[in-house]
Amino acid sequence: MEKDNMESAKSTLTREAPSHTAADAKLQVAMVGCGGISEHYMRALAGIGRVAVVAAVDVREDTLAHFQQRHHVAQGFSDYKKMLSSIHPDVVCVCTPNLLHAPVSIAALEAGAHVITEKPMALSPDECELMIKTARQMKRKLGVGFQYRFHPATQMLKRAADMGQFGPVMLVRCQAMRRRGMPNWGVFGQKKLQGGGPLIDIGVHVMEMAHYVMGSPRPIHASGNIWTFAGNRPNDVPCMWPGWNWQSHDIEDLAVGQIRFDNGAVMQVEASFIAHIEKDQWNFQLSGSRGGAAWDPPQIFTNHAGTMVNITPAYLPTMDFDGLFTAKLENFVQAVLDDAPLEAPAEAGLAIQEMIDGIYRSAAAGREVDIPAR
Ligand SMILES: NC(=O)c1ccc[n+]([C@@H]2O[C@H](COP(=O)([O-])OP(=O)(O)OC[C@H]3O[C@@H](n4cnc5c(N)ncnc54)[C@H](O)[C@@H]3O)[C@@H](O)[C@H]2O)c1
Repeated sequence: MEKDNMESAKSTLTREAPSHTAADAKLQVAMVGCGGISEHYMRALAGIGRVAVVAAVDVREDTLAHFQQRHHVAQGFSDYKKMLSSIHPDVVCVCTPNLLHAPVSIAALEAGAHVITEKPMALSPDECELMIKTARQMKRKLGVGFQYRFHPATQMLKRAADMGQFGPVMLVRCQAMRRRGMPNWGVFGQKKLQGGGPLIDIGVHVMEMAHYVMGSPRPIHASGNIWTFAGNRPNDVPCMWPGWNWQSHDIEDLAVGQIRFDNGAVMQVEASFIAHIEKDQWNFQLSGSRGGAAWDPPQIFTNHAGTMVNITPAYLPTMDFDGLFTAKLENFVQAVLDDAPLEAPAEAGLAIQEMIDGIYRSAAAGREVDIPAR
């Protein structure tokens, strides 16, 4: 079977038209990278009536063929540049390893497509800046896959922050801590392909939702430390994802960092795939002059009628992982078709990348570093 345009994959397609290939679809979407996270994209896109996924790209022939069969996507490619010149999609979803987020996004934008790229936005702030510049030049939307800002708890805290219920936020503590949760698929243990470990992979999510709730202040200084002590040696302790490739593991196992912002606020970050802690933590807590909050469980801490009170929501909608992907892709489609504001724009991706890059630079330098203004 030829790698590109795998026509033979079509022979196994069913004749039924799934909802994401409806004839009245307005946006022609191409998926680049057909691994784990692309499945969440496909489930979300299938529920959004105004899109049709028309092409898929993956360098792994078997992965691509299975993806095409499963999702009834007629056009398959091993080379995203060939896909762009043959298909001219309206939208490209970038779901590759992190190393490719920038080059694929830039090529897609230059080919005239709107782009939503998975997190982290890229490997460095410079790459993010080039992506933003290209999107502006091409007058195309560029979104980042920060789905946690659509979470009902994040939205609750964002509304409270926007109403001034916390006053100026002084301190935010972000935790993305797994006791033993080193991904055992893909290339998550390889620094040159991913740019780092748990800080850039999962810390990024908690940082992005906390930064969003804080009102997106500009990061100006970073300090941090990273350690590798367990992922790069054999692990015989039973865990949820056993058997990761420890021989090629060169990322950190544990990262801590502190970011100073231009408004005087400070963010502390802890991220780990492997930490000797009681249980996993996925949370942020903030403290302002008038009130504070926690994300999980969602609570607001303040004074009321002369009493310290903890406010808990009487009702919040539940939203599972697929629901978060539906929310982020619905917002992206609305931004492209209706010019709605992007809730997770590229500028947010750049700010988070500056913080992550600052923590890694500080860890390497052994001192606090500046985050230059751009
Ligand atoms: N938003 C989230 O919650 C979330 C969760 C998991 C992963 N992610 C992100 O999604 C991205 C992919 O992660 P994953 O878990 O799907 O990894 P994965 O390894 O399962 O999938 C990546 C796919 O990209 C393919 N690929 C590699 N090089 C390619 C190329 N040149 N052209 C086309 N395809 C290529 C691989 O063959 C693989 O199938 C990463 O950036 C990751 O950080 C986001």
